Amino acid sequence: MRPFGLISYFAVHTLLCFKTIHIHPYIDKGNYTYSYACGTAYLFVENSRNEDNLQNSKRKRLRPGKVSPLRPVPDQIPRPPYVNSQQAPGISSGPEVHDAKGIECMRASGRLAAQVLEYAGTLIKMEIKKELTIVRLTSLEEAYQLALKIEAQLRHSTLKRTGVVVGGFSTSQNTSSVPRSNPGIKTDEIDQAVHQMIIDNGAYPSPLGYGGFPKSVCTSVNECICHGIPDSHALEDGDIINIDVTVYLNGYHGDTSATFFCGDVDEEAKNLVQVTKECLYKGISMCAPGVEFKKIGKTIHDHADKYRYGVVRQFVGHGVGRVFHADPVILHYRNNDAGHMMLGQTFTIEPMLTMGSINPIIWADNWTVVTEDGSLSAQFEHTILITKDGAEILTQC
Ligand SMILES: *[C@@H]1O[C@H](CO)[C@@H](O)[C@H](O)[C@H]1NC(C)=O
Ligand SMILES: *[C@@H]1O[C@H](CO)[C@@H](O)[C@H](O)[C@H]1NC(C)=O
Ligand SMILES: *[C@@H]1O[C@H](CO)[C@@H](O)[C@H](O)[C@H]1NC(C)=O
Repeated sequence: MRPFGLISYFAVHTLLCFKTIHIHPYIDKGNYTYSYACGTAYLFVENSRNEDNLQNSKRKRLRPGKVSPLRPVPDQIPRPPYVNSQQAPGISSGPEVHDAKGIECMRASGRLAAQVLEYAGTLIKMEIKKELTIVRLTSLEEAYQLALKIEAQLRHSTLKRTGVVVGGFSTSQNTSSVPRSNPGIKTDEIDQAVHQMIIDNGAYPSPLGYGGFPKSVCTSVNECICHGIPDSHALEDGDIINIDVTVYLNGYHGDTSATFFCGDVDEEAKNLVQVTKECLYKGISMCAPGVEFKKIGKTIHDHADKYRYGVVRQFVGHGVGRVFHADPVILHYRNNDAGHMMLGQTFTIEPMLTMGSINPIIWADNWTVVTEDGSLSAQFEHTILITKDGAEILTQC
């Protein structure tokens, strides 16, 4: 059928039944699906933003955006003690070990943090940025010529995600039913939504005012390892973003994060994110009373090594509870540190894995941490409680 395959497929399917079709034989990766009705011929050409970048196998480097003014917190919501001091309090000594009442409070703050994170994730998933060029054609012949051109371009291209094409007929001459995607959400809009949900639940967003941090959540995009400040940066198709939520509810902090996909994320990035998540759960599965903390680092490092991913060393898990950052320090790499887990103890595990360099660079804002080589970084985090039988994940919905 080649080189007429595409158009034949197009024509046959449009003429036959106007149903949704896939055109895999002509595209290596991905497929494009549209629904359409009968009438004038259209051709939809979908362009990925990353065409140029992908050809050089490089993403756009992350750049600082504009940070919006401080968001207020109602007076009646209790603040953690560090708020309004510009100095980050650092890690306080002494583990967080709780009695039955404290555990109930930890469960409540953990659950709220998890609900907020889940909600933040839905904001990402809804927003898929794709530039959809709609070429309106007056005849099937025109559609045919364009389809051939696109097919030829694809054949000689190394592009991973550029698009074609489905044709349809519409009597209405109206393209407004074409599935257009939304522009990407700005990280500041994520902050706004997270801030609102936390205060609506009577809690304080722990990052806000911690050592002068200006926002209520950390949003770390692509090569950002952690502590990204929400700003005017709009997410783009193919980005990954870690959202790190901590809430202070009834005097207890619950801390959790996850990495989300924006639109069509390539396989390499998906794999990094998947393995990072596995590292977190493997680390958690080691935990129980009496177990050495260093087992967590070994387990995570061994799993990351299998995929040749880097494990970031400078940023660590920590005790959490009445204090945001307490002992012990949880290292995610192989180490020989002393210390054992205690019944009733709460702490975070939050591995950060990178595709390339593990060395961090900190931006002039003194917070945003990115990989020195611009390679992708992913992170997942839970707050856990050491129980009789092992560990309970507190930051679950
Ligand atoms: C086509 O898209 C569907 C729905 O997103 C997906 O499940 C399927 O794996 C895709 N097929 C190919 C070959 O990419
Ligand atoms: C185009 O479609 C939209 C949404 O379905 C409809 O509101 C509008 O009236 C249509 N315009 C024409 C010219 O048909
Ligand atoms: C970052 O830290 C340096 C050194 O402490 C300080 O001089 C500078 O003002 C800080 N920058 C911001 C944006 O806070």
